[in-house]
Amino acid sequence: PVTRLSDYQPPEFLIDDVSLRLELDAEQTAVDAELSLRRNPAATRGNGDLRLDGEHLALEAISLNGRALTPAEYQLEDDHLLVHRVPDRCRLQTRVRINPAENTALEGLYVSGGMLCTQCEAEGFRRITYFLDRPDVMARFRVSLVADPARYPVLLSNGNPAGEETLADGRRCVHWEDPFPKPSYLFAIVAGDLVAVEDRFTTASGRAIPLCIYVEPGNEDKCDHAMRSLIKAMRWDEERYGREYDLDVFNIVAVSHFNMGAMENKGLNVFNAKYILARPETATDADFAGIEGVVAHEYFHNWTGNRITCRDWFQLSLKEGLTVYRDQEFSADMGSRGVKRIEDVRLLRARQFPEDSGPMAHPVRPDSYIEINNFYTATVYEKGAEVVRMQANLLGPERFRKATDLYFERFDGQAVTTDDFVACMEEGGGIDLTQFRRWYSQAGTPQLDCEDDYDAATGTYRLEVRQHTPSTPGQPEKQPLHIPLALGLVDAEGRDMPVQLAGESQPPAPGTRILALRQPVERFEILGCATRPVPSLLRGFSAPVQLCYPYTEEQLSFLMAHDSDGFNRWDAAQTLAQRVLLAMVDDATTAVPASFLDAFREALQDETADPALLAEVLTLPSEGYLGEQMTVVDVDGIHRVRQALAAAIGSGLAAELQAVYARTRSEEGFDLSHAAMGRRALGNLCLAYLVRAGDAQGLEQAQRQFDGQANMTDVIAALRTLLEAPDAETAAAGEQALAGFYERWADEPLVLDKWFALQAQSSRPDTLARVERLLEHPAFSLTNPNRVRALIGAFASGNPVRFHAADGGGYRFLGDRILELDPLNPQIASRLLYPMTRWRRYDAGRQQQMRAQLERILEVEGLSNDVYEVVSKSLE
Ligand code: ARG
Ligand code: ZN
Repeated sequence: PVTRLSDYQPPEFLIDDVSLRLELDAEQTAVDAELSLRRNPAATRGNGDLRLDGEHLALEAISLNGRALTPAEYQLEDDHLLVHRVPDRCRLQTRVRINPAENTALEGLYVSGGMLCTQCEAEGFRRITYFLDRPDVMARFRVSLVADPARYPVLLSNGNPAGEETLADGRRCVHWEDPFPKPSYLFAIVAGDLVAVEDRFTTASGRAIPLCIYVEPGNEDKCDHAMRSLIKAMRWDEERYGREYDLDVFNIVAVSHFNMGAMENKGLNVFNAKYILARPETATDADFAGIEGVVAHEYFHNWTGNRITCRDWFQLSLKEGLTVYRDQEFSADMGSRGVKRIEDVRLLRARQFPEDSGPMAHPVRPDSYIEINNFYTATVYEKGAEVVRMQANLLGPERFRKATDLYFERFDGQAVTTDDFVACMEEGGGIDLTQFRRWYSQAGTPQLDCEDDYDAATGTYRLEVRQHTPSTPGQPEKQPLHIPLALGLVDAEGRDMPVQLAGESQPPAPGTRILALRQPVERFEILGCATRPVPSLLRGFSAPVQLCYPYTEEQLSFLMAHDSDGFNRWDAAQTLAQRVLLAMVDDATTAVPASFLDAFREALQDETADPALLAEVLTLPSEGYLGEQMTVVDVDGIHRVRQALAAAIGSGLAAELQAVYARTRSEEGFDLSHAAMGRRALGNLCLAYLVRAGDAQGLEQAQRQFDGQANMTDVIAALRTLLEAPDAETAAAGEQALAGFYERWADEPLVLDKWFALQAQSSRPDTLARVERLLEHPAFSLTNPNRVRALIGAFASGNPVRFHAADGGGYRFLGDRILELDPLNPQIASRLLYPMTRWRRYDAGRQQQMRAQLERILEVEGLSNDVYEVVSKSLE
């Protein structure tokens, strides 16, 4: 069953108001719904039947305008309910029963530990009651929650509190009212024995908003960072976008069992506990950063997603691309803009580029899907954010603000399209984005091939850029895109030259120029270059493209040391390392060119560099990313040379690494400042290189750092290096440390996830056997998505050399797990498939073994849409 954008029809009926009453019980919850329906004047008239979505519901009663319907007046199907010949305006009442405890898919109403909670995006509301479960039906919700106060003392829903009472039978009934019309995917309830961590925020217009983070008892001391992040996000959205919070209360709940990161339900954001709970002893710096970003992301959805929502799910990037862009900018403002950009681009290249060149490639606005849950992708989120970023950059800050103001004013309270958004950018920004719109409809990563030459006699530098987008499934032909290319020209002293285009009478100030690429081939003539410049191309990663220019190694080292653009300094270092590594694979050598170590040494000796940025520069490209750069992924070769290069850095630069490590160990207490996090990142990177080289002092330092247990960032880094140590003796010490780690953290689920993941990612040859043993560990559970990701996901996606073992053991293991998981939780099962969808990139033997697993899965009867779609498309 394929859903297509071109088939979009406005809904025949609208729902203005909904009253819901849930009598909550883990095994059998009763849901009474009353819908005020009206025929949509904007829709074409059908046969008069009302068709409501509904799945896994047991219908107990149904009446229309107060009169019970006879069986002839409606028709009940597996996934919908037809009510025959309804009047143009009516009140429909239904009563259904659902079983939250049996709901292992974690969509709709389900049980997590002792609490009841919901996840409705994208199409989970239909598992709660019969409804028009589509985002362009926006209704006002009133919700009553009835429950035993001893089991479920806290009863939450969207909107504002609207009173409560105790029923004759002793149960409590709590009322909520959300004054803002919203689509059903933003509905939420939570019931449980929870404690609130409270604060308050005063909005720009002076309204004091109570903020509550609800957690399971015992976690109250881990909410500080999330709360601080929320308050910063609320302030930032007022200052940067003029967006104020709109309800009387704002609630967050942390849940242990959750399919994704978090959910922006109106006034009641529900989070994977991983993105709320943190103390320095339990969470790493990356965890803290993740919390800040995700808390902000969900909060920002209140305007970009909730007040203005999506017309249909093809428009998902309308809210996700824009909101990711907003959270990226927020994090850039809170920490280091340069480092944040590097992290975001690294993620884009590692996850979105492969997606865009694989069997699941789709445009930012997809044309069709079988299962929408499969389209919460890096393309919709991260590439979507890049597409918004390009528009923001094309407009510049002032015009972009004008354009977003227009967007908020024009579409508040509506369900709209990505095209509506672009129209506001055009109008507010006063530019033509006709060609630019192709970024939304065309899949694939454009490749830019650059060539240049220099005429010393006239001082003219010529740059020729060809764009080409490889074909993707369903899109054999590609059209040229409008691509903003940021260009700098660097002189021999490392200074930016003015970029004066032919035809311009005056040279501009030295610095970056944005060139607009529109044609398949564009040529630029730059005047007044007294010497041959080194081009610094695609500064700041000005467009989500693959850039090719025949840099020499000297040029890359030069840019790595001198480019005024921090992003391109990092990128030059990455390209340099990538070249060295791929050449080592090709030559089947472990010998490292001296010039490479020299460039690293020079970088290490720069005491003025920002430690966080330096850590990024000195981090080698991942095995996964390197594999993507090869025609046929050489799993073992990549692993071998990357280990060898790390060891060569560790031994060749031991003194420099030691000096930097010493400098980064601060005597002061723990804090989360950018400087402190940067020092930890850099110090731990140095330590990892030293240990990889078997450096005795480094080993001792790692052991000491682990034993010190100062904070989780340092503990995990030390433990990881010990576990990966090249010699048996240290590896034994690592095992001991691992056991101690378990003892200490057995009662902290989020820390235990790290314990599972560390073992799953170990490059030791016996890792698969260990992972299989860990499936039997009492703390492992297939019904907890975080645990599944920590063990199975970390192995399949985070351990290329062991997962892709030539004997196919990793593939069989994953195939087995997917078949076990699919009946339980199709969304999680489908996500785990990802590494096998890349089978075409490997050698014949591995291809054959991966395909065998995919084919075996496809043969299984009763597969979920989620898994079916990914597997069948991968095999096409
Ligand atoms: N809207 C949520 C967010 O981006 C994610 C929802 C994911 N839903 C899903 N079915 N995968 O914050
Ligand atoms: Zn989102």
